[in-house]
Amino acid sequence: MPLPTLGTLSLRDQPKISDTEFKELRDYIYSLTGIDIPAERKYLLENRLGARLKELGLKNFGDYTRHLRLGVGRDAELQQLFERITTNETSFFRDQKQLDVVRDKVLPAVMDEQKGGVKELSIWCAGCSSGEEPYTLGIMLHEMLRMSIISWRIRITANDLSPAMLVKAKAGLYNDHALRTTPKDIVDRYFTKEPGGYRIHPKVQKLVQFGPINLNDTLAVKRVPRSQVVFCRNVIIYFDDEMKKKVISGFYDNLQPGGYLVLGHSESIHKISRAFTPLMQPGGIVYQKQG
Ligand SMILES: C[S@@+](CC[C@H](N)C(=O)[O-])C[C@H]1O[C@@H](n2cnc3c(N)ncnc32)[C@H](O)[C@@H]1O
Repeated sequence: MPLPTLGTLSLRDQPKISDTEFKELRDYIYSLTGIDIPAERKYLLENRLGARLKELGLKNFGDYTRHLRLGVGRDAELQQLFERITTNETSFFRDQKQLDVVRDKVLPAVMDEQKGGVKELSIWCAGCSSGEEPYTLGIMLHEMLRMSIISWRIRITANDLSPAMLVKAKAGLYNDHALRTTPKDIVDRYFTKEPGGYRIHPKVQKLVQFGPINLNDTLAVKRVPRSQVVFCRNVIIYFDDEMKKKVISGFYDNLQPGGYLVLGHSESIHKISRAFTPLMQPGGIVYQKQG
């Protein structure tokens, strides 16, 4: 019976990574991105990068790490690497209970601070994958503000490490799977059905600015516009404690006083940072920077 295939490679053809090669490549990936790959998940590198080695005509993972460090076209190869090593699982309206907390507590709190004239709202979605999360926030704001949205200057800055995910996010075209947890009336009002899928409405799309970021790059993080809310859900789960501390401290500096940090429901900064006040809500914890 044939073995299952991964991309264009069968398991039998897939290059194996030795322990030494694994340590070398894992440490290099960590130094670049802060993504921590534990030894028991070494198979991930074989699965995700095996086909790339073959495409490049490289014999083993040692050669691949050397190619990443020193090879011709290093920058382009790093983009290939980022695409392959990131886990991009996401969907519209992911974790509705937590989004209810954002709609009912977090957004009203930061929006009440803005009085008169043009009101401003700045949200940073760090690790936005293919765009479902920042577009969900855009839809929620349209639902909350309705016509009065015209009196707001809203900016949702959405960043990710994976170039392929950002291309998909900017295209704004999604399949049923991406919309599996989205109420039908929202799909009807904010998406147009096309032969290729469901296209996000331009009035939502214009609220979101997508761009690349590596959260391990302190200077790049400092350049992100200041925010009242930082969303970083299901991202720090891939980092070790040292990287978590670095990233959370970057979010702290980015947030305006009184602003909120929203992490994934399984993520905690309990042992990572004491700078934030955790606010327990029925739908999950949100973290506030003191005003
Ligand atoms: C599982 S997805 C989460 C998407 C979305 N936040 C959600 O919860 O549905 C994690 C995302 O984090 C991104 N990521 C991982 N490491 C990163 C880094 N060092 N800098 C920026 N983004 C990173 C990945 O590319 C991936 O798209």
